[in-house]
Amino acid sequence: MCGIVGYVGGRKAAGIIYGGLKQLEYRGYDSAGIATLEDGKISVVKRRGKVSVLQPYIGGLGGTAGIGHTRWATHGGPSDENAHPHSAGKFSIVHNGIIENYSELKEKYFPDTAFLSETDSEIIARLLDKFYDGDFLYALKKVADLLKGSYAAAVICADFQGLALIKRNNPAIIGYGEGENFAASDAPALSFCKQITILEDGDVAVLTADGVSIFNERLQGVIRERIVNPATPLSLELGDCPHYMLKEIREVPASVERTRTAYLSVENKVGLTLAGAERIIITGCGTAYNSGIIAKRFIETFAHMPVETEIAGEFRYKNPIITPNTVVVAISQSGETADTVEAAKLAKRLGAVVVAVTNAPYSQLTRCADAVVPVEAGSEICVAATKSYTGQLTALYLMAKTLAGQGAAEAVKSLSAVAPLCERVIAEGADIDTLADMCARASGVYFLGRDIDHGVALEGSLKLKEISYVPSEGYPAGELKHGTLALIDIRTVSVFLITSPRLAEKSANAVEQVLSRKGKAAVITNVAAVRERFAGRVPVISIPECDEYLSPFLTAAAVQLLAYKTALLLDRDPDKPRNLAKSVTVE
Ligand code: G6P
Repeated sequence: MCGIVGYVGGRKAAGIIYGGLKQLEYRGYDSAGIATLEDGKISVVKRRGKVSVLQPYIGGLGGTAGIGHTRWATHGGPSDENAHPHSAGKFSIVHNGIIENYSELKEKYFPDTAFLSETDSEIIARLLDKFYDGDFLYALKKVADLLKGSYAAAVICADFQGLALIKRNNPAIIGYGEGENFAASDAPALSFCKQITILEDGDVAVLTADGVSIFNERLQGVIRERIVNPATPLSLELGDCPHYMLKEIREVPASVERTRTAYLSVENKVGLTLAGAERIIITGCGTAYNSGIIAKRFIETFAHMPVETEIAGEFRYKNPIITPNTVVVAISQSGETADTVEAAKLAKRLGAVVVAVTNAPYSQLTRCADAVVPVEAGSEICVAATKSYTGQLTALYLMAKTLAGQGAAEAVKSLSAVAPLCERVIAEGADIDTLADMCARASGVYFLGRDIDHGVALEGSLKLKEISYVPSEGYPAGELKHGTLALIDIRTVSVFLITSPRLAEKSANAVEQVLSRKGKAAVITNVAAVRERFAGRVPVISIPECDEYLSPFLTAAAVQLLAYKTALLLDRDPDKPRNLAKSVTVE
């Protein structure tokens, strides 16, 4: 989940690579580096920190070929030494993935060599240097054959005016220009290229200014399809917002609108793919998994079909039971999350029909799916997912309606109230200030709700811990008394989501249980009786009245704003939380 960029052509490589890395910073921002090749000599700059740490050095890096990297640390902490590129002899490499057998390889081939970093990646450069006898392609193939795990790596060699790519289980893309060619781990870095090729596992690609040659695992030359690049450049403009997170929360209504409109064009295919479904398994990671929990409620309620939810990293290792007519719905904003992609591939191998719900139409996930339900959230830069979550809810709501046999036009119409109501929640966000202040001072924050509110409680908790680092848990309100109540004291805050008139009284009882143990509490509700009961006793965040199954769209916006405001009070960077990356392409 690091970002990789490569360039060869007639222009100065460093500036182009730097621009590409800025677009890929969502893949990690622990450290960054660039290596360029000029007159057979490689120069490297690499530093701990975000991509901008490289800026002062760009002018001094000559050469018209090079590679660059933005890192999310897996092996070896964030430091100048562990930053990529890693070099040995005539080679410099950047790597995304995990080389699982790097210790073994190190012991076997370099028992007495002191490595310069603690990374698993340095072994690639060392091996290339060891096996290079003047034949670049042979060395690449030899090294690729030795590596176990997942990798996309870009390589420059002092003897070769160009660059090469090797890849297995991690994305690698080639972009074509006039008298220049590009490489990247992800399409947004190459959004200016009209045509791209997505490499396949085992491919070795060699790029020069004049052309690209691709070889398969047996080193036979192959032709891989050139496709129109679907990526648009990430809009790095913040407008009048101080952070991407706030900008993206404000884009929630647009995400809902675009996603529901887009559904009309896929409904037919989705309907055919889901025909005959008898059981649904929903899988994903993080926020995407949380949207799956809400989708379970949508499908069970609208279509009366049994649904299981499985965290993708668990599903892929549990020998899942796929009965005939099982549909696996894999949800992923990026479409590149390794656990989710592997879970979807496994489901496919076991005979399931796979439906992908994603923001990324050109991703690995879409390539193994039988149908794709698009999430039209637009590019999301903040690591914490906001508008993509609401976009996923939109897509999943509509898919549930299709499973229930409802026509798309009617289903799409039933969501028409959502965007304006979300706008109201976001505009009235100031009410959240008092609660954010309580959360910022709390030793722990519990998000509690029943039924569909429980799903949003999980997401509210994840959002808060991701960007404010306040310990937090999402819990079913009814379970509070079976354990979590022991944690309640004057330093804790319990945030209750109460949107179902059916269950309001039950959840209100849980609020009383917290208050009578001197815990602090707050309520996010659209139920008048709850508002009246707690007004003046605890902060009450009022959201507009709506159908019970539309409430997650509104409560989600409220908990996203709460997390954002809490993070600011604690002086955290909400866009780039510590230790995290937006797209996690390793296990
Ligand atoms: C990472 C991010 C989370 C995200 C999860 C799944 O862990 O930090 O914010 O929810 O990956 O990402 P995906 O792209 O598959 O939705």
